[in-house]
Amino acid sequence: MEIQLWRDILEPYRLAVDELVVKFMHIKQQYQYSHMYSPIESVTGRVKRISSILDKAQRKGIEFDEIESKIEDIAGIRIICQFVEDIDTVVDIIRKREDLEVKREKDYITHSKPSGYRSYHIIAYYTVHTINGPKRLEVEIQIRTLAMNFWSTIEHSLQYKYKENMPDDLRERLLRAADAVDALDNEMASVRDEIMDAQNSNKQKANIVSDILNNIENLYYVANEREVTKIQDEFFKIYKENDMALLKRFNKQLDIIAENYRAQSLQ
Ligand code: GTP
Ligand code: MG
Repeated sequence: MEIQLWRDILEPYRLAVDELVVKFMHIKQQYQYSHMYSPIESVTGRVKRISSILDKAQRKGIEFDEIESKIEDIAGIRIICQFVEDIDTVVDIIRKREDLEVKREKDYITHSKPSGYRSYHIIAYYTVHTINGPKRLEVEIQIRTLAMNFWSTIEHSLQYKYKENMPDDLRERLLRAADAVDALDNEMASVRDEIMDAQNSNKQKANIVSDILNNIENLYYVANEREVTKIQDEFFKIYKENDMALLKRFNKQLDIIAENYRAQSLQ
């Protein structure tokens, strides 16, 4: 088949992958800007190579004109999370999005595949807009933890190396490694709460600091410059101490000073 024809078929999938990677990266950034823990660690995407499409079509007895309707993973997005719990959050985000319509979900986490493979898959419809108008196509979104991703990357290269002939003992070892990955994810789940605590206190600190800076800015308009400069220097000193209690107390003092000025201006 002509390469140009393949290009025409695959180009909208390229667009879908590019757009969705940007969209999911922005979700991560939005969490970060808001000083919140992001359930998304990283996002990658790929369009299936022509040779892999042909392999799969042959393996599954798919005719050429059925390729787009029967191969669901021409466009593939992979979302990596730190913790298993984050996967549920990401799945929820995807279910609620108006630009994605879930066609099917495959939960290989509750029921891992015989190989030991674990991951959550969503097949969804997504519309891209090309010069020929809108096109609704299917994308496969794989959501998994860093640990699951480590396992499947290694296992995939071994599968590639051995094709159908993976030695039994290697298959056995991979299954044991998959159990170890499962244990690691469970162990990390208990550490997650600690990480959340740290992130919450970061957020609290960011809120207080922005409160303080607001207060100082307001004082500029009512207090004399020397006093405000003194307060600002004091703030920098306290900020360096990295002590939440001190920051809170300082902010309370600023509230009192601001209140005094307000009272004065009303006299
Ligand atoms: P293919 O496995 O691609 O033929 O598609 P399918 O229609 O059988 O769907 P399935 O959900 O089984 O697999 C979809 C994708 O998940 C695959 O293309 C792989 O990226 C990944 N996957 C599924 N099983 C395994 C596995 O045993 N090992 C690894 N490393 N990846 C897997
Ligand atoms: Mg398969």
